Amino acid sequence: MEMECTMKTLLDVTKIGNMPMKNRFVRAAVADKTIDGSISSDVVDLYRALARGGVGTVVTGYTLVDGSEKILSIVASYKEEFLDGHRRLVDAVHEHGVNVILQLVYVGSYTAPKDVSGVVTLAPSAVANLITRTLAREAGVDELRAIQQKFAQAALFAIEAGYDGVEIHAAHGFLLSQFMTPYYNRRTDLYGGSVENRSRMTLETYDAVRGAVGKDFPIWVKINSTDGIDEGLTPEDCLHLCKKLTEHGVDAIEVSGKWFTMPVEAHAYFADAAKRVAKENQVAVILTGGNRDFKEMTRLLNDSEIGYFGIARPFMNEPNLIDRFRKEMKT
Ligand SMILES: Cc1cc2nc3c(=O)[nH]c(=O)nc-3n(C[C@H](O)[C@H](O)[C@H](O)COP(=O)(O)O)c2cc1C
Repeated sequence: MEMECTMKTLLDVTKIGNMPMKNRFVRAAVADKTIDGSISSDVVDLYRALARGGVGTVVTGYTLVDGSEKILSIVASYKEEFLDGHRRLVDAVHEHGVNVILQLVYVGSYTAPKDVSGVVTLAPSAVANLITRTLAREAGVDELRAIQQKFAQAALFAIEAGYDGVEIHAAHGFLLSQFMTPYYNRRTDLYGGSVENRSRMTLETYDAVRGAVGKDFPIWVKINSTDGIDEGLTPEDCLHLCKKLTEHGVDAIEVSGKWFTMPVEAHAYFADAAKRVAKENQVAVILTGGNRDFKEMTRLLNDSEIGYFGIARPFMNEPNLIDRFRKEMKT
């Protein structure tokens, strides 16, 4: 009997929801520092180079949903004055048939102290940030709702600017991920304690965005599989959140974690977590962090339900990384 061999490849053309994916590579978010939050022609050129270089989808660096936060990034996404810049960026990427997703963040106590003077910085609980030492104020429930609405407004802005989707940043120690982390979340109300409660802020944020953009606009969520601290979230906590996000209709989950303490030579370090997320949920899963070896990615693709690979730092030196891979495949 002849066995049909259907190897999946990194260059497969697929779809996430309604969004065509021209290959399985995603440029994972890399924050673009600008002085005033506007999009300079240099930033547009950077995205054009990425799109020209063969990657299928680009996630922008994070953009602040609350313009009163002062950390520098590509733009405070609520500002209408930056709309033209966003449109130029989107057009530059679309010229090459590549998707571009706007990443949205509320930073909170991850903001450095020099950036928070005179600014109200909110957190799940009044616990000093382990990295920045910033001590934020515990957010009231009305303030949490206001933040959720800011994510929704920013997503509407993304549609106006022509983005193909948004990614809610719920990883890397920013506000949403802090809710998942018992160390940072000491609340005793509906947003703290049990994993159901700790997941609530991210889920309600997702729901607020979904409510604003409608059922067809792609919404991705980047999550932590580990936050690398004592009293951190557990693998089961992460799986619970992913299960709920899937039930609520998220289009894709990008599995990340505390990447910046990993040794440079470490590879695909969140693969085991991403495999479990992908196995247990009918949702597109993007694995990000230490994806360096195309053979290893191909193996993961075929040995698990992980469907996509996020790559960040290698693109900084080599925007045409995927074109090089495509050429190597042909020889
Ligand atoms: C300079 C720099 C800026 C980053 N900015 C963001 C960001 O804005 N949003 C985000 O989700 N991740 C950000 N990351 C993390 C990457 O998206 C990615 O998760 C991490 O670099 C691990 O992937 P890599 O090993 O392919 O670089 C940043 C990483 C670097 C090096």
